[in-house]
Amino acid sequence: TIENAIKRKKSEERLRLLESAVANANDAIIILEAEPGEMRGRRILYVNKAFTEMTGYNYEEATNRTLRILRGPKTSLSALNKLRIALEQIKPVRVELINYRKDGSEFWVECNIVPFADEKGLFTHWVSVQRDITERKQAEEEREMLMRKIESINADLTELNQELETIGAERTMSLMALTVADRVRNPAAMIGGRCKRIIQKEGVSESLRENIQYIIEGAENLDKIVKDFETLLKNRQSKFKHDDLNRVLQRIVSVIEKEARYKGVELSVKMSNEPLRMNMQQDLLRVALFHIIKNALEATSVGGKISVETFKEGDNVAFSVSDTGYGIPEDEIEHVFKPFFSTKERGFGMGLPLVKQIVSEHMGNLFIESKSGHGSTFKIVFPARWREDKLY
Ligand SMILES: Nc1ncnc2c1ncn2[C@@H]1O[C@H](COP(=O)(O)OP(=O)(O)OP(=O)(O)O)[C@@H](O)[C@H]1O
Ligand SMILES: [Mg+2]
Repeated sequence: TIENAIKRKKSEERLRLLESAVANANDAIIILEAEPGEMRGRRILYVNKAFTEMTGYNYEEATNRTLRILRGPKTSLSALNKLRIALEQIKPVRVELINYRKDGSEFWVECNIVPFADEKGLFTHWVSVQRDITERKQAEEEREMLMRKIESINADLTELNQELETIGAERTMSLMALTVADRVRNPAAMIGGRCKRIIQKEGVSESLRENIQYIIEGAENLDKIVKDFETLLKNRQSKFKHDDLNRVLQRIVSVIEKEARYKGVELSVKMSNEPLRMNMQQDLLRVALFHIIKNALEATSVGGKISVETFKEGDNVAFSVSDTGYGIPEDEIEHVFKPFFSTKERGFGMGLPLVKQIVSEHMGNLFIESKSGHGSTFKIVFPARWREDKLY
């Protein structure tokens, strides 16, 4: 009948439309036969244009073969297993795996396979849609690599910080001890002296004299304790050795490079060609250099620059760090060496006091040039030679 003819025409049109949609889809579309045949795999009955573009196999090369042509050494076995089980159970499945093009190159795909039934509900084919996800996978891998890198940077930093903290705490303690010693010894000596004068006077009752004698003994004891303490501190000093400043810097450069890269700050390190030999306590000096650079890094934001240099200056050995960071306001420069002075939210303010202590133990001089909003330069100049017995 005419009606039937119209109906048939309509459904033919629909079919053509669907066909062209499949043929021109951006994703690779593959139609497989329902059951594995003699080839021990389901035969490919149809592939679209996108499949050819994705894999390099044209229609003739792909049909009548199996999806095995796409597999290779890096194709995940667990993904293939998941596929196999779903196909056996006639269930839709989605896996991500590495496929191989005709030329042998690899690419990542997200592969969806769904069973397809005819009008009567009879299972006749599999339809597979494959999408190239190489870019996403690469991004994922890159992110993972970056995370690993960040973790390793963190580990390095934690280690260095721990080192810094131990040495720093020890130094700060002796610094404080020396200050305390001075503060205790003078009053003790003063009290003792006064008391002695009092008991020398006439008309002092015997009981008062006895009491004052106690005070004198106490003051003398205090003086002795402080003296012992001081000798202890001075004897505890570690040994100075002649060594190359560049070598000390070299040991911290890799850590700083990593952190600079992570912060998006450009770091340039220019070391003198000749070795810069000087009298030093290596581990302390390393802490001082590290801390000045760390401050520079903390003051500089993305796109900024830090230059570290070592050079000879006459007979002296010099180290300088310039940054393009936020700088130090003029009225703050005099405070930066004071213990606990910090403009940072989580700053402790012990970095530069420690640096100053270490530099002075090396008979060095520290210079700051800074302009608020433009950056800072910290420079240390060490005498290359001096006699150790001049210390303290
Ligand atoms: N390169 C620099 N650029 C700008 N300001 C700096 C720089 N170096 C130091 N400062 C200023 O000096 C202050 C004191 O520095 P210091 O290293 O003693 O302490 P901190 O860095 O704040 O804390 P931390 O104890 O963690 O080191 C800083 O808070 C900052 O204001
Ligand atoms: Mg600091």
